[in-house]
Amino acid sequence: MKLALVSGGAGFIGSHLVARLLEDGVRVRVLDNLSTGRRSNLDGLRGPLEFFEADLSRADVLSRALAGCDCVFHQAAIPSVPRSIEEPVASHEANGTGTLFVLEAARRAGVRRLVYAASSSAYGESEVLPKHEGLLPDPVSPYAVAKLAGEMYCKVYAVVHGMETVSLRYFNVFGPRQDPESPYSAAVPKFLARMCAGRPPVIYGDGEQSRDFTYVENVVEANLLAARAPQLAGQVVNIACGRRTTLNELVGWLGELLGRRFAPEYAPPRPGDIRHSHADIRRAAELLGYRPTVDVREGLARTVEWFLAQTRGTTETAGGSP
Ligand SMILES: NC(=O)c1ccc[n+]([C@@H]2O[C@H](COP(=O)([O-])OP(=O)(O)OC[C@H]3O[C@@H](n4cnc5c(N)ncnc54)[C@H](O)[C@@H]3O)[C@@H](O)[C@H]2O)c1
Repeated sequence: MKLALVSGGAGFIGSHLVARLLEDGVRVRVLDNLSTGRRSNLDGLRGPLEFFEADLSRADVLSRALAGCDCVFHQAAIPSVPRSIEEPVASHEANGTGTLFVLEAARRAGVRRLVYAASSSAYGESEVLPKHEGLLPDPVSPYAVAKLAGEMYCKVYAVVHGMETVSLRYFNVFGPRQDPESPYSAAVPKFLARMCAGRPPVIYGDGEQSRDFTYVENVVEANLLAARAPQLAGQVVNIACGRRTTLNELVGWLGELLGRRFAPEYAPPRPGDIRHSHADIRRAAELLGYRPTVDVREGLARTVEWFLAQTRGTTETAGGSP
């Protein structure tokens, strides 16, 4: 792979992927409208990187960004269940229609392969655990519907146009640079932001709901494997750690890493949130040669270290200003 486009490359996962591609000597283009991402997520990266600040709906910019690319890593989306419930049309435009825009522009540009950031939310409340790709999807939020529509478009572009598309269903990704600020943020950065400020984390529900928390480096590795693996066209593949952690356990581990115990505050469960999520990752091993290399506890340790460094940086800056 010589030249790749990362849509959503200024976001949390996208920026880690961009960094790794550059390290591997790939020329990278990023297309991002900076709606939830930040330009600063790409600060300090070395290597041939071009940035296109644009929405996925800008066909002219997409076609320039895609010209000559061997592969597209389509990460751009509005990745929030609660926000999709409040703004379902905006969610669908970015996540569903946005994916169709990218597929169509990629087809016109003759791009060989597209790796799509799909979501475990497709499984919804399916009671089967661990969740495997053979299960019927059962989305329970507008976000999940739109992400699933994106997957289906990917499959159809493989069938109808012979494009090598592959959908990676990520399960609860976490790591450095994940935004804790938004009301729609994910559990790990939100908990950490409060705990680092000495406040108890807020859990929606009884805390016994579980997730297959996946450190971001595993997801980046899966994307690189998916860009290279043969015979993937139209496939859907789970990407996770393959183990279940409850939110209560998560709070306990974060407390251990921070050297302090926290009693969480419990709030009513949120609509659209599922009870348990746990991935079967055998297909990823078979088709991609994927295995998670950073386990949950090691990933949390790295994330806590990053958060603490950020907090110290902010405090020092604030202390040093006139
Ligand atoms: N974080 C997770 O746990 C998780 C789980 C499953 C799937 N995913 C998927 O992974 C991808 C990346 O998620 P993330 O957590 O890094 O989120 P993020 O919000 O940090 O990144 C998304 C990026 O897409 C950009 N973007 C959004 N709408 C756009 C548009 N219309 N045009 C151009 N750019 C746009 C944002 O500015 C942002 O930089 C998303 O597709 C998400 O659905 C994430």
